[in-house]
Amino acid sequence: MINRVEVSLLGRDRAVVEFHVADETPEATIERLEVEASGCTKFLERLNLLIDQIRQLPKADRRLQGSQALNDLIPKDRDHVSILIRELILKARNQFERPYKDIELCHCRGVPTDVVDRAIVSGCQTVASVARATSAGTSCGTCKPDTEAMIEFRLKSL
Ligand code: FES
Repeated sequence: MINRVEVSLLGRDRAVVEFHVADETPEATIERLEVEASGCTKFLERLNLLIDQIRQLPKADRRLQGSQALNDLIPKDRDHVSILIRELILKARNQFERPYKDIELCHCRGVPTDVVDRAIVSGCQTVASVARATSAGTSCGTCKPDTEAMIEFRLKSL
């Protein structure tokens, strides 16, 4: 089974990773990884490091699901590279579920959810800074809890 995962930020930092897994059981190990990536030096370095670290794990720890060794490789920092790598691993595990699913997050200002999400990944990590960058939440304010939930989702430790 091949789990093909893509992450990207504004088309600049972009990675497509294929996780080749024996089957769909939780015990199935990652047998092979194929990577295609472009972006800033930091993104490429961290991505390559992660891929190397996964390749070097003992086979028993190379499970996509439920491997503490793989959990330990997930960066916990708040910078855009760490956030994208967390997204990559969550997507590979089919666990990337944004808490707000509508296409548009702020209806007063017509701000799409993707725009809010990109602002968060790019470094706006408070409701106020997202509002400054995107105008989401600057009218009636009822969308602010949704912005808060998106920030929490992007920054929470795994
Ligand atoms: S819905 Fe976002 S300010 Fe009203």
